[in-house]
Amino acid sequence: MKVLVTGGAGFIGSAFVRLLIGETSYRVVNLDKLTYAGNLENLRSVESSDRYRIVEGDICDWHLVESLLAREKPDAIVHFAAESHVDRSILSPEPVIRTNVFGTFTLLEAARRAGIGRFVHVSTDEVYGSLEPPQQATEEYPLNTSSPYSASKGGSDLLARSYFVTYQMPVMITRASNNYGPFQFPEKLIPLMISNALENRPLPVYGDGMQVRDWLYVDDHCRGVLAVLNQGRAGEIYNLGGNRSLPNIEVVRKILALTGRPEDLIQHVTDRPGHDRRYSLSSQKLMSETGWRPETEFETGLRRTIEWYRANAAWVAHVRSGEYRAYYERNYGGRATLRQESV
Ligand code: NAD
Ligand code: DAU
Repeated sequence: MKVLVTGGAGFIGSAFVRLLIGETSYRVVNLDKLTYAGNLENLRSVESSDRYRIVEGDICDWHLVESLLAREKPDAIVHFAAESHVDRSILSPEPVIRTNVFGTFTLLEAARRAGIGRFVHVSTDEVYGSLEPPQQATEEYPLNTSSPYSASKGGSDLLARSYFVTYQMPVMITRASNNYGPFQFPEKLIPLMISNALENRPLPVYGDGMQVRDWLYVDDHCRGVLAVLNQGRAGEIYNLGGNRSLPNIEVVRKILALTGRPEDLIQHVTDRPGHDRRYSLSSQKLMSETGWRPETEFETGLRRTIEWYRANAAWVAHVRSGEYRAYYERNYGGRATLRQESV
């Protein structure tokens, strides 16, 4: 089996490539544009495998995608490539819409013409929007997107589904909750808070910090995507939740406790515009169809993640380049610090 993985130099895509090379006999072609989020250091452990190769390129580039499929003839495509950060999508929506919507369309259309056997489109629980407790989204739940990022993922999900309904292309959609683990770019909550805490810098919590996310260890997510690739039914959507919902402020307090840093590093700052209060997923369908379940307990995964960031200070320093510093200033520089009594 040969799999074309898109976005395989990013956080989750690289974990998926490491899983395929390490634990299956599949061959992997990784198509990645190497944006700020793509990092070849994430792939050091597989780069010398004769079952792995990387092609640097843009999923929006029709000629590149078409000729790549003609040359490589993959049996399946697993599509991770995206602009994945909500805050960046608020600051600059254009590249997000381009890659997530037009890039997904380009891949779908090229895959249809090439007659690709299976297409897994990797999506997110954010497409269901904010849910009141105790609601949980099943795969039938309506789409209700809030940010340019989630709207772009919702749009690409609908396109992916249309290729099944209209052309009977064997497309499957996965919708996962918040991932965490090694190699995550330190713009997302957990790696940002860990790397700031390790350097005794302030931890910027948006608003009251009572927004709830469901945390899924990245390797559990990848095993779920592999289960869908191997066993998923064409045309179906599969939710993958971590079954561990926590308010952000609790996650941040756990990070401070595990890194031995004081709670006065927490700084409540102006909230994210359009911030969804709570995500929650039912993953019953994937669990009953494939036996998949999230196996990593949150405290174990968080400890392992903190240890990884401690041991990989050079990786962190490298990704926190000039681009990162400019982004940090743009996203956090203008935010007011909220007084304790107003949050
Ligand atoms: P990431 O930002 O770490 O990596 C994205 C990768 O895509 C990078 O390697 C980047 O270079 C590549 N890329 C971006 N634009 C490209 C383009 N036009 N052409 C080719 N490659 C391009 O993202 P991630 O956190 O690993 O997320 C991967 C996928 O999983 C995304 O589709 C995201 O929506 C989805 N997802 C993420 C989470 C999460 O918590 N991070 C949860 C659920 C779903
Ligand atoms: O739910 C799945 C989604 O999870 C994925 O589709 C996205 O690709 C991924 O980025 C993630 O989106 P979130 O917006 O939930 O993740 P983020 O890590 O940016 O934020 C998690 C929560 O923490 C959210 O409520 C915002 C809050 N937060 C985040 C940052 C970066 C803060 O309070 N302060 C911060 O500095």
